[in-house]
Amino acid sequence: MYNILLLGSGGREHSIAWALSKDKNIENLYCAPGNAGTSLISKNISLDILNNQELYDFAKDNNINLIIVGPEQPLENGIIDYFNKKNIKIFGPNKYAAQLETSKLFARYIMEEYNIPQPAFFECKSEEDIMSLRNQLGFPMVLKADGLAAGKGVIICNNNKDLNSAIDDMISNKKFGVASSKISVEECLKGEELSVFAICDGEGYKIINSAQDHKRVYDDDKGPNTGGMGAYAPAPLFDSKLRSKVEKNIIKPILKAMSDKGNPYKGFLYIGLMIQDDEPYVIEFNVRLGDPEAQVLIPLIKSSFLDIVLSSIDGSINSLKIDMHDSYAVTVVLASNGYPESYKKGMKITGLDKLNKEIIFHAGTNYKNNILLSSGGRVLNVVGLKKNLKSAINHVYSLAEKIKFDNKYYRKDIGNKAIKYLEKNNR
Ligand code: AMP
Ligand code: GLY
Repeated sequence: MYNILLLGSGGREHSIAWALSKDKNIENLYCAPGNAGTSLISKNISLDILNNQELYDFAKDNNINLIIVGPEQPLENGIIDYFNKKNIKIFGPNKYAAQLETSKLFARYIMEEYNIPQPAFFECKSEEDIMSLRNQLGFPMVLKADGLAAGKGVIICNNNKDLNSAIDDMISNKKFGVASSKISVEECLKGEELSVFAICDGEGYKIINSAQDHKRVYDDDKGPNTGGMGAYAPAPLFDSKLRSKVEKNIIKPILKAMSDKGNPYKGFLYIGLMIQDDEPYVIEFNVRLGDPEAQVLIPLIKSSFLDIVLSSIDGSINSLKIDMHDSYAVTVVLASNGYPESYKKGMKITGLDKLNKEIIFHAGTNYKNNILLSSGGRVLNVVGLKKNLKSAINHVYSLAEKIKFDNKYYRKDIGNKAIKYLEKNNR
């Protein structure tokens, strides 16, 4: 029997807790720090997820025999290496392997070494370095902070004005702190974006599904980037031809690369792709599930989520069978108006009590005196799960309307791109 400590506090972690809470092989499930949603299906614990010693003390006192890490920061902080030494099972890539996400340039150099398709890139440290590339790359030109920047470290420059303000942000004003002490300056690829999620055990892997995020805050992909305003899975663009190319040109070589470097890759691998002229190029790797992508990926998995996690740790992915529901899932993020900049917190949320049969994941929520309140920019994730994409979209928006809180804001076009794609291809 497992006593599990799950780390994180977003919609992704609520969806993981939801999958685990259905498992008969779990005796106790703790979530640190969790949110109002996880408090209903697990025990929320107030712990600092970047303090390994504090986590270890809790784990020892509570007979924790499996730790599951949701977000990337603890991975960068070396939590896997730490608990491996303590002989407590933990899920995810070690600190070295996590550099695929925590250092964009580490990822770019390793992809270059293993001939993995990607945009042209240049390591820059100063304004002069960047300016010297302006004529060669032309506009649009992409500036990417090397380190973690909460999904906001990429600036696409369409002209000199954008470029100057990006240089100000990244170099002069240090808006991203040390994350932009090195910058990957990149060719801007054009095409359709798509994400592919695989579970890896160091040598073997299984693709779980494809998905598409909606990163910009407003409809039609307008406005600033956010952590993600909605997602759907699977992405119809990900057909069997593209799948073979992703496996052959990207997944197999990157797993070989990490293994050659003495740090075999274990955990979820999130591959952000641009599809240009039917060819996949890597925009970025992430070393965890996406948020809000997890909220559509997880409800589509029929198999035990615990078994998937254990097979990654134990190295038995090749013999694992992952059953999926033959459906589409769509999630819409209900946000507090003003996110990702300034927004209000502490708004009372109503309407959820009549929706207990629906899939609704909490993101920024907490309970105060038994009253459900918003506590973040992304507040709730409603999910529609249906045999066809249009029905899933209709369902998710009917749920979005039934939940009430002041300043509620959500995008109205989640999934529309996939509908257009399906119509164009008569599917
Ligand atoms: P990331 O945080 O790396 O996912 O980047 C945020 C967004 O910037 C991506 O979802 C893409 O839309 C865009 N992007 C990043 N790098 C590139 C690139 N080299 N070419 C085109 N678009 C890019
Ligand atoms: N939704 C994007 C991410 O999780 O990185």
